[in-house]
Amino acid sequence: MSTYQDFGIAKQKLNNIFLGILDYGIRASEHINDLSGICPDVIDGNELNLLLYYESQVEAIYEVFNHVHMKVAVFGRTSSGKSTVVNAMLGENVLPSGIGHTTNGFLQVEGSPTGNAYLNTEGILPIQHNVESATYLAHILKNIIKPNKKKLVHVCWPKENCGLLKDDVALVDSPGIDTTPCLDEWIDGHCINADAFVLVINAESTLIDTEINFLHKVSKKLPNTNIFILINCPDESELFDQECKQKMKKNIDLLEKKLKEYTYESYSQMFFISAKEVLEFRVKVRNGLQPIIKPFSKKYWEFLDFEKQLEDCISKSALLKFFNYSMHGKYLLSEMNTIMDIINTRSEEQTHFSMSQINEIQDKFNVTEEQFENITNQNLPITATDY
Ligand code: GTP
Ligand code: MG
Repeated sequence: MSTYQDFGIAKQKLNNIFLGILDYGIRASEHINDLSGICPDVIDGNELNLLLYYESQVEAIYEVFNHVHMKVAVFGRTSSGKSTVVNAMLGENVLPSGIGHTTNGFLQVEGSPTGNAYLNTEGILPIQHNVESATYLAHILKNIIKPNKKKLVHVCWPKENCGLLKDDVALVDSPGIDTTPCLDEWIDGHCINADAFVLVINAESTLIDTEINFLHKVSKKLPNTNIFILINCPDESELFDQECKQKMKKNIDLLEKKLKEYTYESYSQMFFISAKEVLEFRVKVRNGLQPIIKPFSKKYWEFLDFEKQLEDCISKSALLKFFNYSMHGKYLLSEMNTIMDIINTRSEEQTHFSMSQINEIQDKFNVTEEQFENITNQNLPITATDY
């Protein structure tokens, strides 16, 4: 079983637990509300308000975690192969890729809850566009949706052909990091809750200042974050790989040093891959064609290795988020319970008080009854015969 599935199991369990807490909260506040009309002495208005507040908190957490994904954010310079990496992971040509500035905004590919492909733009009035094919998606992204780097576009894609989407993984594609002076805003706006960052570097490029700056910003903002570096080698020959590694040696050494400096754990790693090679192989397999590609190429295996490491890392990171949600849920439940206990004790006291009052009245009544009997049994000084 893939470790991604742990996330789905945990989410389902937590979902049931939170539904239970929510049900408890709703029933408790309804009950208290009813009771406040009948026995105003037992209910304190602040307690009811607090109970309603906790109930709304539980509802809000339930909403948030129910929409939570394991999130991977892909960054890199323009034309480094970011969109191709995302497509390779999906095993399908979903996002547009090409020479020049292709991706103009932030795109989050996630499993479609309806089973159909559509785009959802964020905003006060979210707009939904139905998508029939990847070509049409490229058309909408290019011609219909205005590029807006502040808003995330949700690309909801059918899950059935893609294990990652089925397992609730969302992949965020981004514009080139070399096109913005506002990297902080990008990270804050779209990736603050990412479980891992993937930095794609074109193996043919020589400058790495932009990438170092990116690594630095991410590690400063999210100190415990997981970063993967993919060196995308655009040529298919193994010989080229060696040349490429030689050429990049100085840069790689520097990147490795920075990775160690900036990140924690062993999850910060570097892989030599060819995103296009993996994508073409997977598309052919999907279409039932016999791929000519040698799937045993080193770059191919490195890509599989990257996917495995990513899986282990983001499942752990996402489960940690669930832990935080469950701790908060536990806290809210115990607070609600405390209020209910206080009301319960007060109500028992009141009942006890009323019971003792009843007993007292009863005693008094007994006394009067006794007196009455005494009186009636007494020989009355005046009898009927006197008249
Ligand atoms: P922007 O969205 O413009 O920032 O670019 P990007 O980083 O998303 O790059 P994209 O995936 O669009 O790829 C750029 C070009 O490089 C495309 O023509 C890809 O087909 C090509 N490319 C990407 N990966 C590889 C690879 O591994 N080998 C080869 N030969 N070409 C690749
Ligand atoms: Mg792109």
